[in-house]
Amino acid sequence: MTKLAIMGAMEEEIEPLLAHFTNVNVVEFANNKYYEVSHNGLDIVIAYSKIGKVFASLTATTMIEKFGCDTLLFSGVAGAINPELKIGDLIIADKLCQHDLDITAFGHPHGFVPGGSVFVETSKDLREVAKKVAVENNLKVIEGTIATGDQFVHSTERKNFIESTFKADALEMEGASVAVICDALDVPFFILRAISDSANGGADIDFDEFLKSSAVNSANYLIKIVEKLNK
Ligand code: ADE
Repeated sequence: MTKLAIMGAMEEEIEPLLAHFTNVNVVEFANNKYYEVSHNGLDIVIAYSKIGKVFASLTATTMIEKFGCDTLLFSGVAGAINPELKIGDLIIADKLCQHDLDITAFGHPHGFVPGGSVFVETSKDLREVAKKVAVENNLKVIEGTIATGDQFVHSTERKNFIESTFKADALEMEGASVAVICDALDVPFFILRAISDSANGGADIDFDEFLKSSAVNSANYLIKIVEKLNK
C-alpha cells in the first residue's frame, strides 16, 4: 500500500479520525476538503463526502484518481436490520448492494442494472485484518450484507422490503456506491459501520442521539485497523 484513503459521509464520522492524527494538510477540491496526513510513514487522505451515493462516488473517485490512493477504508454509522445489531454495535460489510436501484419493470432483479451486479464484495484481506484486530481487542463485530440507498429509512415497511429482498443486515446511504467505484477502479476497500438506529419509526430520534457516539465507536476501531495495516 502506498496511499490510504479514509472516508466518511458526515463531518461527525471523520472528526474523531482527524483528532487522532497530527500535522494535517488541507486541500480543497470540487467543493470539498481533503485532509492529508502522514502517519508512521503511511500517507493517508481523509475526507467526508456529504450524504448519499452521488457525493460518496465523487469523493471515492477523487481520492483514487486525483490523490492516488490505492486502498480505501470507510467509517461511519448505519441503521440496523439484523436484530442482533444494537445501537453502537459494529458491522463490517462482506458485500453491498443498492436497495433503491430499480429497473424491475424490465424483468431485472432489484439492485441490478446491465453491466453491473446486485452485490459487490469487499476486500477479503482487509476483512481478515479487521477480524484479527477485533479478536485482539475483544470487540464484537458482525460481518454481513449492507444495503445502500438515497433514503434515510425510518419505516418498518421499507426496512422489511430491504431485509427480504437483499437479506441485508444493515443499511446506510453511501457504502455500495463506494463499492462500485472501488471495484471498477480495482482498489481494495473496506466498509465499517456502527449502528446509530434501527431504521424504523423513531430512527430519526435515535440517529440524532447516537450519531456522535456510534461514529466514535466506528472510528476507534478503524484507527486500530490502520495501525495494524501499517505493521
Ligand atoms: N444511516 C444511519 N441510519 C440510517 C437509516 N436509518 N437510513 C439510512 N441511512 C442511515
